[in-house]
Amino acid sequence: MPVTAVFGMQWGDEGKGRVVDLLASASDIVVRFQGGANAGHTVIVGDEKYVLHLLPSGVVQDGTLNVVGNGVVVDPWTLVREIDGLQARGIDLTGRLLLSDRAHVVLPHHKRMDEALEALRGDRPLGTTSRGIGPTYADKVRRAGMRVADILHPSDVAASLEANIVAWNAILDRAGMPAIDPAEAVDQVGEVAERLRPYVADTADVLIEAWQSGRNILLEGAQGFALDVDHGSYPYVTSSNTIPAGVFAGTGMPPKSLDRVVGIVKAYSTRVGAGPFPTRDTGPAGQHLGKLGNEFGATTGRRRDCGWFDGVVARRAARTSGVDGVALTKLDVLSGLDEIQVCVAYELDGERISAPPAYAPDWERCTPVYEVHPGWSEDISGVRRFEDLPVAAQRYVRSLEALMDAPVEMISVGPQRDRFIAMGGRLVGVS
Ligand code: GDP
Ligand code: IMO
Ligand code: MG
Repeated sequence: MPVTAVFGMQWGDEGKGRVVDLLASASDIVVRFQGGANAGHTVIVGDEKYVLHLLPSGVVQDGTLNVVGNGVVVDPWTLVREIDGLQARGIDLTGRLLLSDRAHVVLPHHKRMDEALEALRGDRPLGTTSRGIGPTYADKVRRAGMRVADILHPSDVAASLEANIVAWNAILDRAGMPAIDPAEAVDQVGEVAERLRPYVADTADVLIEAWQSGRNILLEGAQGFALDVDHGSYPYVTSSNTIPAGVFAGTGMPPKSLDRVVGIVKAYSTRVGAGPFPTRDTGPAGQHLGKLGNEFGATTGRRRDCGWFDGVVARRAARTSGVDGVALTKLDVLSGLDEIQVCVAYELDGERISAPPAYAPDWERCTPVYEVHPGWSEDISGVRRFEDLPVAAQRYVRSLEALMDAPVEMISVGPQRDRFIAMGGRLVGVS
């Protein structure tokens, strides 16, 4: 299928980088369409570990073109650092990377503002990644942002950049943080823009052309369904549409170009940052998942809260996004648990509900209705065929498929490239 969107079905960190790397081997172009450097996508190849924040995870596969689409908020300094970091490791992106001229730019004051706004939230912070995501998207929507095309003309935008910074400085002042000097910001932006100039393109045009000529295009979502600004646990979300619906606004490709949607789901749940998480487990099971799953943020290093698989979230994610197939990751992490619980519904005020409530405090009060499955003790990281999994693991996978009403097409049993089980060869690029 030429155009495939991949997205996270939970609270992010489902293993999107790992799966995109695999699918990228059969793709011509890999595209990021939303989010920014809040993302941390891990790709492991042999002894090498790559953590990508702004660059699509396709960069690690030779021969792919990688596109940072207009829907991404781009921190130019982070992007330059990533490009240079890969160059130092032998991956040259010359001719392999395009940056949308219409992408909005995260400036240093947006990051400071992210911190100031968190401080002003008092005892109810969102737990953002401090990467300036919210303030940059806010500027975009209130039509006060800077785009890549703008920073290529720094002297022309000096006045509007100054006005923007002065407006935000008032909030910094309220948070007791030092003001930003607009003149310094203009100089810094001009310098970094020159580094990015060679990559800048009208990426919508490039992608439409590529789609029309039948190229294989892989759209790499960041974050996940429950962090979607419209459909997630608002306000405990990120500031973009993380579901495949975000693809079209975030790339300029038409809706009818999308052939296939692949959802990525972890075999259990994790969440980093604040907000509802009914299946959170702070006991021995949660500790097992955190330790064996090495659940620390790839961007901030924060410890991720862990818990059981939340079927309410995954089912809604599958329905909202029209998932054709699911890649199930980290099944190996469940080995060694006597029992595995799966949340099949929530209970709220004595009533059983099967969809997440809109009101975050209600979502927080939900208690999970669990189905209990027997665990297995075997190390499954060497298994490559579904029928070679312990029967309890096979049944667990089948129960998740039933809950999501979507077929599991690939099971990842380790972070390395070759550690996966292909289910009937249905997933593009995996046979
Ligand atoms: P992403 O943000 O969705 O790309 O996910 P992250 O990279 O933030 O977090 C996923 C983590 O799990 C990374 O450290 C991966 O290397 C690791 N990982 C991915 N798939 C598997 C798997 O099947 N088993 C294990 N044990 N680790 C995995
Ligand atoms: P990947 O792409 C997990 C979370 C933050 C916080 C909320 C808002 O690696 O899956 P933001 O900085 O976006 O304003 O923070 O969203 N968050 C993520 N959690 N994985 C991510 O990305 C995330 N990106 C943002 O922790 O709760
Ligand atoms: Mg991540």
